[in-house]
Amino acid sequence: MLRLDGTLVAKTRRERLSAEIQEFHKKTGIAPGLAVVLVGDDPASQVYVKNKIKTCEQVGIKSFASFLPAATTEEQLLSKVRELNQDKNVHGILVQLPLPKHIHEEKILDVLDPRKDPDGLTAANLGLFWSGRTRVAPCTPTGVMKILEHFKIPIAGKRAVVVGRSNIVGRPMAHHLTNANATVTVVHSKTPDVSSITRDADIVVVAAGKERFLGKLDFKKGVVVIDVGMHRPQTGSFAGKLCGDVRYEELEGWAIAATPVPGGVGPMTIQMLMENTLQLAKLANS
Ligand code: GUN
Repeated sequence: MLRLDGTLVAKTRRERLSAEIQEFHKKTGIAPGLAVVLVGDDPASQVYVKNKIKTCEQVGIKSFASFLPAATTEEQLLSKVRELNQDKNVHGILVQLPLPKHIHEEKILDVLDPRKDPDGLTAANLGLFWSGRTRVAPCTPTGVMKILEHFKIPIAGKRAVVVGRSNIVGRPMAHHLTNANATVTVVHSKTPDVSSITRDADIVVVAAGKERFLGKLDFKKGVVVIDVGMHRPQTGSFAGKLCGDVRYEELEGWAIAATPVPGGVGPMTIQMLMENTLQLAKLANS
């Protein structure tokens, strides 16, 4: 089984991106800037945000971090986003999701300037992506496409199944795969007998948000499995460790290729965020 090493793909692309950022800076005098906003103290989100800030430093993107308390009101967060919309040094604003329950995600995304949306999650950017005029596309599914590209996994004409239908992963993932000429089926939490559908697929992207949910017998022999899940179980044999939506260890000798967790999709999400931020800085300057 080929291990689809996202850390490796991210590193290769990061080196290229650092050079591009340097060149952009030399030409324009502009350092791309990314504002990272985290509300509350969810430990997983804190780790993700710290990794994003660290990667900014590595590639030459200026980061502006705002750590806001869990009690931040929706109005206070909207003010923060409006302030960052106006900040000339900021080319991308990342509001880490999920937000605390009392804050409505759509309200925040509706105020965020789409020209400063490196996640590609505002209605304007999703609309452009959907209609084939992409400004920036959502990071995780785009990162998955780059992994498939890097390892030369054939997509055209293949049957692909996406498990999950979120705006951030499942739906844009299905759109990307359709554009790449796969025949795509989306299954979700209300689909009866998910396994009967995933077993038919050449490529399965699992973004179910369910810890170690699928294993060998849910796939056909020779499948390519992409695992978008990220969990740290409290109990069981994976207690305190990271694991995905798929029981990766079962795939050896069965799947033809699969992404591990950690070290698969995760590093690519961050890499795409960095690439999108440069893209937005370039657009702001054009
Ligand atoms: N939470 C989990 N993944 C992401 C992501 O890609 N972007 C944002 N903003 N929040 C996330």
